Amino acid sequence: MNALEIRNKFIEFFNERNHRVISGASLIPENDPSVLFTTAGMHPLVPYLLGEPHPLGKRLVDYQKCLRTDDIDEVGDDTHVTFFEMLGNWSLGDYFKEEAIRMSYDFLVNCLKLDPERLSVSVFSGDQDAARDVEAAEVWRSLGVKEENIYYYGKKHNWWGPAGVTGPCGPDTEIFYDTLKPRCSKGCGPSCDCGKYWEIWNNVFMEYYKDSEGNFTPLKQKNVDTGLGLERVTALMEHKDNIYETKLFSEVMEEIKLLSNKKDEVSFRIIADHIRAACFIITDGVLPGNMDQSYILRRLIRRAVRYMRKLEINPDNICRLATVVINSLRHMYGELEKNEENIINILQEEKDKFMTTLEKGEARLYKILEGLKKENINILNAKTVFNLYDTYGFPPEITGELAKENGVEIDLQGFKELFKNHQELSRQGAAEKFKGGLADDTSETIALHTATHLLHRALQLVLGEHAKQKGSNITKERLRFDFTHGQKLTSQELKTVEDIVNNAIKRSMSITCEEIPYEKAKESGAEGLFANKYGEVVKVYTIGDFSKEICGGPHVENTSELGYFKIVKEESVASGVRRIKAVLLRDRD
Ligand code: SER
Repeated sequence: MNALEIRNKFIEFFNERNHRVISGASLIPENDPSVLFTTAGMHPLVPYLLGEPHPLGKRLVDYQKCLRTDDIDEVGDDTHVTFFEMLGNWSLGDYFKEEAIRMSYDFLVNCLKLDPERLSVSVFSGDQDAARDVEAAEVWRSLGVKEENIYYYGKKHNWWGPAGVTGPCGPDTEIFYDTLKPRCSKGCGPSCDCGKYWEIWNNVFMEYYKDSEGNFTPLKQKNVDTGLGLERVTALMEHKDNIYETKLFSEVMEEIKLLSNKKDEVSFRIIADHIRAACFIITDGVLPGNMDQSYILRRLIRRAVRYMRKLEINPDNICRLATVVINSLRHMYGELEKNEENIINILQEEKDKFMTTLEKGEARLYKILEGLKKENINILNAKTVFNLYDTYGFPPEITGELAKENGVEIDLQGFKELFKNHQELSRQGAAEKFKGGLADDTSETIALHTATHLLHRALQLVLGEHAKQKGSNITKERLRFDFTHGQKLTSQELKTVEDIVNNAIKRSMSITCEEIPYEKAKESGAEGLFANKYGEVVKVYTIGDFSKEICGGPHVENTSELGYFKIVKEESVASGVRRIKAVLLRDRD
């Protein structure tokens, strides 16, 4: 059974048990500023776990793209990756422990035909916040799981969430598959990291809320949140020893091996993982940069390049490897194929940037390391680490890795503090930029504001859905609109965009505004630009059948008030971000 078949079987299994299928969300959480990436299927469901009724009912199932960077140092072993797919089923105040565990067992043993003798489970051992989970253990026993295969662990292992600082959470029961490797010497059990046991599925009994002071209070309802790791289960079903040999990775792994003369399996895997993750992050609208998600993307690309160089693979091959990733996954992730051009352009550009600074940076770092060696110093101070980052684009992790190879540690904590100050300054800068919007509420700026919405939609129609707003600034004379796109627009593209906007104007479409909860707005397909809080009511402006955006307004009443739309300039503003300046004329000339 391949990954797609497993995914389909999972959805079908829960669908037959009255779970409604919901579509997975973006890798970039749309309204949860507490995390950079979607790390589990439950993120988009937080309001419903807290008690808000879900429009599709109390039983849900989906598959969700996830990214976890806290496992980055483990990438390269048999089971860890940064990007992965999580299959999940939820009970929103409906069934609880017994039914959830029985369904998990049924799916693994009767549907996937995994050997029940090789399953081990862990349950919460209890503490001051919640009782020992004798109930879950009893259900496992009743299913035939032997006492010696039921393990009790504390919060560190058997408590999940909240995903950010606050939110829903609870004790969990984890399901492991025994690889039958010999036990290691460290008192081996499922919580051991030696690789004997693979954690494949987690059932979280989300019945608590953790507040900002660290208190746990019972939620309005008892929920179940589960997550099954598709890559790991695929390896089991394809009878592979590790996920990198499954069809999800094998083609890119082969290609990497062909390109290198070295035999360094861990580095091969790191390159494959990082390029794959970068493809998905770019697809969901992120560009490499120095903050937040952009920085993670930059770090993944640069780390892949660094490992390619270590294996003596020409980094120019990064695009070729990305194409292999896209080709091998297009049947499961259509969005990769749609964004192929964009992915390739961005990888190429970031790789080029890195290469130009890398050589200089490396030379500088080696010189510094030499100096330290002479003086018998084995720590690199934070300021130097920050300068290498700031001037040479050297992520501190890479500095750390290179330094370590020379027996030197870096002051990462000190770096983090310097970085935080730097981030705060850039944030203030960004806030200034985004204040942009409307300079005033004159009829000219209002008309240009409506034209901006038409332009945004037209750009997506011509260039693709990735063309998302990155910034907007409107004066009485002109609009200025920044959006994500990898290349210069051709004159034909510009002309088509102009024509689409002018046609929309001519259609005399009326503009309507409704105030609805943010969640509903997103469900309706409205374009949303900024992270909002759950439950917040937002204004959605709809222009006929043409455009729908979450926006503060104001707008004109009818597109016919706009006149003639003309693009006066198209230029680059940052890597992967283009800028259009446009005006509204009374007449065509
Ligand atoms: N949220 C849980 C996890 O990530 C179950 O999906 O493990």
